[in-house]
Parts: sequence; structure tokens; C-alpha cells
Amino acid sequence: MTTTQASLLATSDSQDISNLLSELPKQTWFEDFELYQWQGTWYLPAHLEGMFATQKLFQAREDDIIIASSLKSGTTWLKSLVPCIINCPQGDDDDPLTKYHPHRVVNTLEARVFLDNLDISTLPSPRIFHTHLPYNSLPDSIKISNCKIVYIARNAKDAFVSLWHFMNKLRTQEQGPFSIDKAFESFCNGVQLFGPSLDHVLEYWNKSLVFSNKILFLKYEELKRNPKEQVLKLASFLGKSFANDEELDNVLWRSSFERLKNLDVNKSGNINLGFTNSSFFRLGTTGDWKNYFTQEMQERLDQIIRLKYEGSGLDV
Ligand code: A3P
Repeated sequence: MTTTQASLLATSDSQDISNLLSELPKQTWFEDFELYQWQGTWYLPAHLEGMFATQKLFQAREDDIIIASSLKSGTTWLKSLVPCIINCPQGDDDDPLTKYHPHRVVNTLEARVFLDNLDISTLPSPRIFHTHLPYNSLPDSIKISNCKIVYIARNAKDAFVSLWHFMNKLRTQEQGPFSIDKAFESFCNGVQLFGPSLDHVLEYWNKSLVFSNKILFLKYEELKRNPKEQVLKLASFLGKSFANDEELDNVLWRSSFERLKNLDVNKSGNINLGFTNSSFFRLGTTGDWKNYFTQEMQERLDQIIRLKYEGSGLDV
């Protein structure tokens, strides 16, 4: 570790980020972005700064709920589901999803909270936050306190295709879509914002086995296949129950892809990095990768996944 890295770690001085960047491995991602590798994970400079600020400043409360995910794995869904489970809105008036994009209903620690300096101290309990940070980079207070972590994982091929579409939304007409082959090469090499994503998933999976009362590991595919069962499991993990079937149905409907995609608030406007609100709602299905993967891509990624997850008991 160099002196700059050591002092940054000691002080978490997020102002001094440019010195650090010059020392870190760097990769171009989707042509227009420079990612920097810190402790095995790839970051944009802003998120690296957000990560240090989160580590330095975030004080978890015992009853905080932290949603964690790799990119394009169902974050938006959980940012809708968890507040609905906690608050059980009776109508549109007390449902924040009617007025705000899910990414504004639940803010991401290393992005909106600590880069935009949101005042989170006055938020009523239980507070709900999100993070894309890998487990090893979570602030100590999250790890030490009794706050709960809900992790969502998704089939890697679907997450990759979803990401490719998502990143293409940022490109101009002249640029056209980014080469899927180049994007796939990066993905297979583990170069991805907050990635390598397989390591991200595996680390949370392993921790969820050790700290099963603290970390709930959910899979996008299981939520799609059996939403009632999975939402009951999630609610029970968060210490909530439903008075009757209608309450459960209400939560499922309020956080459903079909409803959210068609809400005015999600049809227009921008969220951050220039992403439109609507870009977070594309298909909301499983297995779309089959429309994009060649046999060769499938075999290559399956092999990488097999080797990575071998012996872990994880299959996503
Ligand atoms: P697709 O691009 O495959 O449609 P994230 O929220 O982590 O960025 O993931 C985005 C993916 O979740 C997108 O997948 C998006 O359509 C899907 N998604 C968003 N909201 C959803 C919801 N309420 N239910 C199911 N899927 C949802």
C-alpha cells in the first residue's frame, strides 16, 4: 500500500481522491467511462469518493434496513418492495412510489446520500438505504450493528444483458449501441462498476450463510417465480407480517413492474448520471439473455460461473 492509499484509509479524506486515482489500476468501461480498482472492486471516481464518505460518516441505527445489490439485479424492485412492506400504504396518498422514483424513495449511500449530502439524521426509523458496495467495503457500523441487510442477486446473463441495454441509453445516436462483444469481454474479465459482479454476489452469499439473522439473500428469479412466498419471507425477516391476503396483494401490486413502469413519475425525468427515470424499467422478465447470447458466449460465461461458485452452494 502506498503512502497516499494509507493516509486516505486512515483519514478517509475524500478530497484527496485524485492522488489516489493516479495510483490505481484503471480500465475503460463502455467506451466513455474510466473505472478504478480499489481493493478488488471497480469504481467511478465519484463512487470511490462516495464509498470513503460512507465508510467515514455513516452511522447505522440498530433498526436500519440496507438493501444491497450488484448492478441490474433487481435493486429498483427492492427499493419499491421494502418501503411498501414497512409502510403498507393504504392508498396512493400515503404511497411515496406514486410521487417519487424508487431510487428517490430509497437513496444509495455512496451516491445520493453522501455525494449530495442528504440529511439522514432526522429520518424516522426504520430508515431504508441502498448500497452497491461490496460487503468488505461496507462501513463498520453496518457490520457491527443489528441493522438488516437484504441482498438481491440475479442470473448473471440476464444482469449482463440488462446492463448492456441500460448503458446504451447513455449513448448518442451517432455512437449507436456499444458492441455487445466488447461489453461481454469486460464482463467476463470482471471489469464492471462495483464488480466483478460474481465476486460481489458470492461474498454476500457467503456472509448470508454465516450471519443468517442479519443478511437475507434473495434471488430475482425466485421473486418472479413465487412472489408471495418470497415477499412473506422478506417481510418476516424484517419483522413485519400482513394482516390478510389483501395486504400482501397490495404490496405486490404497488411494487410491481407493470404499475411502476406506467406511473407518470417514472415515465419522464432524469435520475443521475443522465439516466432517465424510465430506463430502470425495461422488460422485468427472466431469460432475456437467450435473445442475445451465442452458444459460445453461453458456454464461456457458464464456465466462469461454475468455477467461481463451485462448492459455495450458490446457483444464480
Ligand atoms: P431488465 O433490463 O432485464 O428489464 P436494477 O434495478 O438493479 O437496476 O435492475 C434493473 C432490472 O430490474 C431491469 O431488468 C428492470 O426492468 C427490472 N425491474 C425494475 N423494476 C422492477 C420490478 N418492479 N419488478 C421486476 N423487475 C423490475
